[in-house]
Amino acid sequence: MEDKITFIKDGIRLDGRRVDEARPIKVEVGVLARADGSCYLEMGNNKVIAAVYGPREVHPRHLQEVSRAIVRYRYNMASFSVEERRRPGPDRRSYELSKVSREALSPVILTSYFPRSVIDIFVEVLQADAGTRTAGINAASVALADAGIPMKSLISSCAAGKVDDQIVLDPMKEEDNFGQADMPIAMTPGGEITLLQMDGHMTVEESHRAMELAMKGCRDIYNMQRKVLIDRYSQMENATRQEEAVI
Ligand code: CDP
Repeated sequence: MEDKITFIKDGIRLDGRRVDEARPIKVEVGVLARADGSCYLEMGNNKVIAAVYGPREVHPRHLQEVSRAIVRYRYNMASFSVEERRRPGPDRRSYELSKVSREALSPVILTSYFPRSVIDIFVEVLQADAGTRTAGINAASVALADAGIPMKSLISSCAAGKVDDQIVLDPMKEEDNFGQADMPIAMTPGGEITLLQMDGHMTVEESHRAMELAMKGCRDIYNMQRKVLIDRYSQMENATRQEEAVI
């Protein structure tokens, strides 16, 4: 018989976190010179990079929409991002994650400003440790803002899970793979949910608690996303002022 993993002991999880604690986050804006907007983001051991191109001409042309821009999102996991080498190229999982991530971001993008064009979002997962879709959405949201794409707001994303019959914030790989449930969400700062998925089983009460906790995670991430964008653009503004003063 398999040994059962104990995920939580005296209120502390395998990686030392409390049940309502997310993993440390690191965000960097404007990391790629050739993209219109970009972001490198870490959520614990997840490392992702997002690149945004556009609005630009649509190829193939028949995909263009007369009244708005289309949004494309490609989620890709590097073959070296997981423990067992992943076969390169798209698979069922990456199609699903690309679709739900695009749908999580689309409601805030003002696509009607750019008819007949496309906004392309690429997310590359360099290192995976559960929650890569949420990390990708967080990075893509910042990269869209960095590209100057008009949006109603940023989007922030985080998951809650269930392990040892307890609801935990931001599950890492062991908790995600061997736990009882995983519920990733994405939302606007105003609390509008744009992504809600769930694997596994929770009672109605547990799902309410998970939603509450994941929303708290999103709010913390939003503050971080907002701060890095403000820091970046105030730095650029200061640099421009100094250049103007020299001229
Ligand atoms: O990454 P996310 O939680 O959004 O998606 P998932 O399908 O629930 O995958 C959970 C985790 O399983 C990933 O983040 C990886 O750490 C791992 N995984 C893997 O090791 N090999 C794969 N081919 C796919 C996922």
